[in-house]
Amino acid sequence: MTIIVTGGAGFIGGNFIHYHLKAHPEDRVVCIDKLTYAGNLSTLAPVKDNRNFRFYKLDICDREGVYKLFEEEKPDAVINFAAESHVDRSIENPEIFLQTNIIGTATMMDACRKYGNIRYHQVSTDEVYGDLPLDRPDLFFTEETPIHTSSPYSSSKAGADLLVLAYHRTYGLPVTISRCSNNYGPYHFPEKLIPLMIANCLNDKPLPVYGEGLNVRDWLYVEDHCKAIDLIVRKGRIGEVYNVGGHNEMKNIDIVKLIIKELGKDETLITYVTDRKGHDLRYAIDPTKIHNELGWLPETKFADGIKKTIRWYLDNKSWWEEIISGEYQNYYDKMYSNR
Ligand code: NAD
Ligand code: TYD
Repeated sequence: MTIIVTGGAGFIGGNFIHYHLKAHPEDRVVCIDKLTYAGNLSTLAPVKDNRNFRFYKLDICDREGVYKLFEEEKPDAVINFAAESHVDRSIENPEIFLQTNIIGTATMMDACRKYGNIRYHQVSTDEVYGDLPLDRPDLFFTEETPIHTSSPYSSSKAGADLLVLAYHRTYGLPVTISRCSNNYGPYHFPEKLIPLMIANCLNDKPLPVYGEGLNVRDWLYVEDHCKAIDLIVRKGRIGEVYNVGGHNEMKNIDIVKLIIKELGKDETLITYVTDRKGHDLRYAIDPTKIHNELGWLPETKFADGIKKTIRWYLDNKSWWEEIISGEYQNYYDKMYSNR
């Protein structure tokens, strides 16, 4: 099988490629990535010489380029990870989110239609369901929860999801969608909560907690997400949506304190800053469907996963130090100075 993976130089796509080449050495994996600020070829360095792996620098919105690639590579399946993925950036500049996340999704699916009704999987997010109240721990997102988005990011992902389902109904494209909760693990870009706090802690820089730090996210180790996607692509029912999450809800402030403790630093590093606009309160996934239908369960406990992740950042300083020394500094100053 030849699989096109888009966005493979990013966090989850990169982890997926590492996982897939090990789990299915008989498959070819063709990665296409635009290499935006979030894409890092160093993430793919461990697989670059694998004879079953190929990389193309390509924008998923580049219709001509994408069609040419499909003609050359003749894929059997496409897994679309490529996206603009950071909520804070979407609040600053929504347009690129609409372009990549919606137009890019349509372009990839048009290619799947044109070259033989190719199997298509959309990597989506629990953020399409909006948020849950903090005082109702009995409520969870199921696949039937209405789409109700808060940020330009989640709205663009929801728009893409609706298009994917429409391409199934209208054209019969064999699609599936996974909606996962927050991931953490190696190769996570340091603009996101966990790697940002690890990097700042190690550099003895202030740890900017939005609002009071009481917002809740449902954290899943990235490899568990990769396994879920792999299962859905192979065994999932066509036209279906699968929620993916690990029943691991945590308040932001508790995560920050845990990282401080693991790194032997002091809680005086914590700085409470102005809250994110439209900040979602709580995400929590009900993963009953993927468990019952496909037997998926998360394998990595948070206590182990966070230790492994911190260890990875300690052992791979050059990966993230290179990122935070470049253009990232301008982004950081813009978002956090005088906040
Ligand atoms: P990321 O920002 O780390 O990586 C995105 C990758 O996509 C980068 O390599 C980037 O260069 C590439 N890319 C961006 N625009 C592109 C374009 N136009 N053409 C080709 N490549 C392009 O993101 P991530 O955290 O790895 O997320 C991957 C997917 O998973 C996204 O679709 C995201 O919505 C979804 N998701 C993420 C999480 C999470 O916690 N990070 C949770 C659920 C779902
Ligand atoms: P993030 O990693 O951006 O993921 P998402 O917004 O998609 O869930 O943020 C996770 C949580 O951490 C979210 O509630 C916002 C909060 N946060 C901070 O408090 N400080 C920060 O510097 C960042 C980046 C996030």
